Amino acid sequence: MEARERKELFLKQRQVLIFFVLLGIAQAGSEPTHYSVAEETESGSFVANLLKDLGLEVEELASRGVQLVSKGKKLHLHLDRQTGDLLLNEKLDREELCGRTEPCVLPFQVLLENPLQFFLGELWIKDINDHSPVFLDNEIILKIPENTAPGTTFLIERAQDLDVGSNSLQNYTLSPNFYFHLKLQDSPDGILPQLVLEKALDREEEPEIRLLLTALDGGNPPRSCTALVRIEVVDINDNAPEFTKLLYELQVPENSPVGFQVATVSARDLDIGINGEITYMFSQASEDIRKTFQINTKSGELLLAQKLDFESIQMYTVNIQAIDGGGLTGSCVVLVQVMDLNDNPPELSMSSLTNQIPENLMETVIAVFSVSDPDSGDNGRMMCSIPEDLPFLLKPSVENFYTIVTNSALDRETNSEYNITITVTDLGTPRLQTQHTFTLQVSDVNDNAPEFTQSSYTLWVRENNSPALHIGTISATDRDSGSNAQLTYSLLPGPQPGADAAAALVSINADSGQLFALRALDYEALQAFEVRVRAADRGSPPLSSQALVRVQVLDANDNSPFVLYPLQNASAPCTELLPRAAEPGYLVSKVVAVDRDSGQNAWLSFQLLKATEPGLFSVWPHNGEVRTARLLSERDAPKHRLLLLVKDNGEPPRSASVTLHVLLVDGFSQPYLPLPDAAAPERAQPDRLTAYLVIALAAVSSLFLLSLLLFVAARLCRRSRARSLAGCALPDGPLPGHLLDVSGTGTLAHSYQYEVCLQGGAGTNEFKFLKPIIPNLQPQGSGEEMGENIVVRNSFGFQ
Ligand SMILES: *[C@@H]1O[C@H](CO)[C@@H](O)[C@H](O)[C@H]1NC(C)=O
Ligand SMILES: *[C@@H]1O[C@H](CO)[C@@H](O)[C@H](O)[C@H]1NC(C)=O
Ligand SMILES: *[C@@H]1O[C@H](CO)[C@@H](O)[C@H](O)[C@H]1NC(C)=O
Repeated sequence: MEARERKELFLKQRQVLIFFVLLGIAQAGSEPTHYSVAEETESGSFVANLLKDLGLEVEELASRGVQLVSKGKKLHLHLDRQTGDLLLNEKLDREELCGRTEPCVLPFQVLLENPLQFFLGELWIKDINDHSPVFLDNEIILKIPENTAPGTTFLIERAQDLDVGSNSLQNYTLSPNFYFHLKLQDSPDGILPQLVLEKALDREEEPEIRLLLTALDGGNPPRSCTALVRIEVVDINDNAPEFTKLLYELQVPENSPVGFQVATVSARDLDIGINGEITYMFSQASEDIRKTFQINTKSGELLLAQKLDFESIQMYTVNIQAIDGGGLTGSCVVLVQVMDLNDNPPELSMSSLTNQIPENLMETVIAVFSVSDPDSGDNGRMMCSIPEDLPFLLKPSVENFYTIVTNSALDRETNSEYNITITVTDLGTPRLQTQHTFTLQVSDVNDNAPEFTQSSYTLWVRENNSPALHIGTISATDRDSGSNAQLTYSLLPGPQPGADAAAALVSINADSGQLFALRALDYEALQAFEVRVRAADRGSPPLSSQALVRVQVLDANDNSPFVLYPLQNASAPCTELLPRAAEPGYLVSKVVAVDRDSGQNAWLSFQLLKATEPGLFSVWPHNGEVRTARLLSERDAPKHRLLLLVKDNGEPPRSASVTLHVLLVDGFSQPYLPLPDAAAPERAQPDRLTAYLVIALAAVSSLFLLSLLLFVAARLCRRSRARSLAGCALPDGPLPGHLLDVSGTGTLAHSYQYEVCLQGGAGTNEFKFLKPIIPNLQPQGSGEEMGENIVVRNSFGFQ
């Protein structure tokens, strides 16, 4: 189809050309005649018939020797001599023959001979669209900074088309896009394509734009070619770093180790290259933050440079900046909240403290203190306590202040000091506690009176003491202390009448409480007396108490028996009458004696020391009765003198002697004599009673005497051995004449032997002295004796 159309078109053109050639020849002989042919016409193709233009007949062609010549150039045509047709020698390429010259004309001459004639002809070669436009580079690269203003134009390389005229390059088109449109500028060379920026570029959005540029020629059909326009958007640092989060909030426990990674911040920069290289750093950081944190400039890790302490700083606001290589910055804030750990024990500070408090005070403040705990929350909440068994109360006061108050009156005597331990515990985990101990001294108040060890004392003192004798010590105690417990003793008159006099007998040492007898006491005058002793302390006001001291005087054997009958100091000694007819056992007389001492010291015994007629009389040792021992005879002398000894039982014994005169009478009628038979019934009862008493007394005495006897015998035994060595032993058997056996009963024969010195004549016989010859029975030294006499009983129990 297409081929046939092209052939028809070709034929039409040839007809038109022939028409023009004929016109040219007709007009002027000198003007070259134009012939035209399209390029790329096949070789041998008919161009024109020259016969008409030459004015020749076919026959003349050969005769005139027609020939085609070209001025030194190659002939692309030849002439058919038969027909006069001008034919193409070869296929002609206009672009090769003429390049861009238009029109492309190949001149030729036709030479005729006979006559010589020149015929000028021109072959015009017509362009056909046999070339497509061509871009030199298939890819056109443009580098455009992203911040280029819209409206800016960019020249791009144009395409080439070897064809000329309408077949040359006529138009460009650009693939549709948002950024550029094409602007064509006419120039003598042709159309210059330009890219005009319509919209600002953004590398970050589209780093590269690819456009297709199509070049079109004007042929029919048009030919085209395309080139890729690659626009590389050049980065401009138009993007600041941007943090993924503007605010990082995090909690970090205090005491986290150094190097602990608190957070990692990260920022993005859309730019590339150095414009996108981010460095992290602190911005506007305080000294605290710089000391506490460090940031990895590349990775954005925020690390701990030192331990956090909630108590000093609870919150850090860390401003972090990211800087890209172009100097643009972005920032974020890291809020680091320090979490409290219970790392601080509670603290206690004493505001005021009383170290000493007088007893008996109620509701007294003894300490004020405050507690604090730097931790927060439960870690900082505290409980405060003191031991419950102490008489103190813990009272909360304002805020964290507490007071310790006495709960009840203190008693120094029970507890003189208290160790008060205050325990403060917080409620954190783990619980931490602080203890503070202080000592409270309770000072003394004189609230205790002195107390005597006994409510009453009984002291014993042997009479005849030496003056200023210490007879005993009384003591009192005072539960207070210091001067409140310093005691002074004094004497007060006793409760009974006449106590003043008694108080004069003793004195007391005010400090020691020792009691002294002021003078010798006499049992016989005063057996006991009472004084009151007062002990007073030195407190203010002083307190005192009293005790009764009873002083018992102990008897000493200081009185000799005193003979009441017979009277000894009478001028005429009284004489007893004894009838010669008296039976043995006849009661001659009864010696009556008393002793002012008491007890054993007043226990008297009688003995016959000496008689004119030994054996005639006997004396009952216990009642002093003198009785006849045998019947009287005519040979017995009428007058008898008996020497009796009355002795008490003291230690040492004291004695008195009695002289009794007995006169034997003959005519002493029976009726005058006591009639035992007649008198017996009347006195039966008392006599029997007396007899019992006598028997009892005798039994006691004999027991005593027996023990004494044994004791003396033992001593004598030793002494006799000593004597025999000294050559002065007492002879055994009957005593010599000047010694008497003083024993009435014979039982004391070896116990007491006294040397009796008779002074002179028989009528005036007296004891010169009566001296014990047994040394170990001599009285002891008086001082020692006094010492032994004191009996102090302090262990007297009382309710
Ligand atoms: C170039 O081509 C475009 C699109 O095909 C058309 O709109 C425009 O008129 C043409 N320009 C010329 C000079 O032919
Ligand atoms: C108080 O503490 C002191 C010192 O620790 C101690 O000597 C004293 O006996 C304590 N007192 C009491 C009443 O516990
Ligand atoms: C004998 O002594 C007693 C007692 O001492 C006395 O009362 C009396 O008067 C004295 N008699 C004579 C004669 O001295």
